[in-house]
Amino acid sequence: MCGIVGAYQRGGDVLPSLVEGLRMLEYRGYDSVGVGVIVDGAIAVRRRAGRIADLEKVLADGALAGCRIGIGHSRWATHGAPTDANAHPHSDASGRVLVVHNGIIENDKDLRAELEAAGTTFTSETDTEVLAHLVAAHLAEAGGDLAKALRRALAKVRGYYAIAVLHQDASGEAQLVCAREGPPLCVGAGTDGTYLASDSLAILPHTRDVLFLEDGEIAVLTPDSIRLTNREGEEVEREAQHIDWDAEDADRGGFEHFMLKEIHEQPEVIARCVQGRADLEAGDVRLDGEFFGDERLRSVERLEVLACGTALHAGLVLKYLVEGLAGIPVDVDFASEYRYRRVPSARATVAIGISQSGETADTLAALRKARDQGCDLIAICNAQGSTMVREADASILIQAGPEIGVASTKAFVGMIVAAYLFALRLGRARGSLSGEAVRERLGELQRLRGAVEALLAKERVEGLRDLADRLADQKGFLFLGRGINYPIALEGALKLKEISYLHAEGYPAGEMKHGPIAMIEPDLGAVVLAPMDGVVDKVRSNIEQVKARGGPVVCVGTDPACLELADDAVEVPEIGEWLSPILNVVPLQLFSYYVALRRGCDIDKPRNLAKSVTVE
Ligand code: F6R
Repeated sequence: MCGIVGAYQRGGDVLPSLVEGLRMLEYRGYDSVGVGVIVDGAIAVRRRAGRIADLEKVLADGALAGCRIGIGHSRWATHGAPTDANAHPHSDASGRVLVVHNGIIENDKDLRAELEAAGTTFTSETDTEVLAHLVAAHLAEAGGDLAKALRRALAKVRGYYAIAVLHQDASGEAQLVCAREGPPLCVGAGTDGTYLASDSLAILPHTRDVLFLEDGEIAVLTPDSIRLTNREGEEVEREAQHIDWDAEDADRGGFEHFMLKEIHEQPEVIARCVQGRADLEAGDVRLDGEFFGDERLRSVERLEVLACGTALHAGLVLKYLVEGLAGIPVDVDFASEYRYRRVPSARATVAIGISQSGETADTLAALRKARDQGCDLIAICNAQGSTMVREADASILIQAGPEIGVASTKAFVGMIVAAYLFALRLGRARGSLSGEAVRERLGELQRLRGAVEALLAKERVEGLRDLADRLADQKGFLFLGRGINYPIALEGALKLKEISYLHAEGYPAGEMKHGPIAMIEPDLGAVVLAPMDGVVDKVRSNIEQVKARGGPVVCVGTDPACLELADDAVEVPEIGEWLSPILNVVPLQLFSYYVALRRGCDIDKPRNLAKSVTVE
């Protein structure tokens, strides 16, 4: 996820506060960084692929020192590689309008084509540059008012963005504005000027009173004031919020652990993964690359998913989705097993690697073997530019932003959303899904973000915390699920064991009677997943069997009878079967987190584990 900073000071030098702000957002991860300021009446930009230290080397010549107004950005590449040319800020052709941007401009290609037809030359591959040219194109008709020009430009844009725009007109007047439609953006007035940032952390050194922009709002900053207007251009009055985080909370955005922060980022992750891909009009999904075109997808006969750990669980969900929605058989294999097994060639025609890091040694080796066996490779991955993405024939980036907690949470949710989009595209290409059917499924996907937000509401999270506190001394847990929620049972067990060191096993609920039921006793119970699907009656009898043996039962799901029967019920919002894994996994992530917290474990760095397993 990228970072935005900006400032309009009364005097002094703006550069140190821009660089300090970027440094405070460093924890979000980035692969290039840049600043733009107005020096001696002209806009000047410095940007570099690499780290903030690389940018500082360029700034060390002092050429940009002493300016009062500027914007800065740290970029995590999505459109175009992490190069100097693609780093932000981006300017229009006159060099008078400068833009930094987080998010995605969905209709970037159409806008770019229109601008090019009108004679605009682009200097980067980013969607952000479109914004700079568009704003510049509207300045004259807006009478030189930057906020007005931005509002008119944004009326043409479809997407999900937070942007800051700097303008220097011919008479020497400078303007600084910012706007939000999706990703967070806030502003604050300090004693020496006004500040904007994508994360309040970067404002806190200047003031603790922060105003968060709502979707559709534009803020105009001068050294002495901040003016907020809505989509219609009407003035908005809103109180700033007082933030009382301490500096050490900074890296984690105020959360006690990265894992908790990343769990709370999941609604945004869903939106980012879907943005620009759901085509409701056509009842289809747009995935970048020829590989995802109708003709190529029609020739796919069988898929082989190769992954490890949590990513493998996402692969199992993908199997249910692709087999159920597109009718193509899918095998899922542990990458570490596949790489050494004698696999008859041509078992599958396409292998799909799933990975947060894109650097997991076993997964890469398994994919290379699949390639040798004649498979084409697709990567579902969070890290653009990773080895997996570079080696694959096509990729679906999940765009979850850097995941820092060792226990994977938001990447898992992103992987499932990507798998869902892939299954819909496949179904549409092969005719197993009509446009209307895809439209319906996309409608559910649109509701998902709000449903996850509801699950993360304070009182629900507190409820899970109480539950975890009560059960943290259990000897262990069985996690049971059926169908598409069986992989979620595996994931719930993995999450709990890796961060709390409690014994936990995930099972398909129907397997309980074949062995694990022997383990049930008063301090070893079950977490049972119970969506309202075709097999919920059978899940209900699982609950009865565990209770009959004195084991405590936590039920997560929507089926009223199961929820009623269990000792503890965690009801989740209603959603169709195909997306129920996402709503069921969120409470399990929080349950694991709070059990581990209660047990005093090192949550973000569990013992013996590494974030990225790049060796065998
Ligand atoms: C569990 C976890 C691991 C990873 C696995 C694969 O929380 O994080 O099980 O899922 O090591 O890693 P990636 O996705 O980077 O290939």
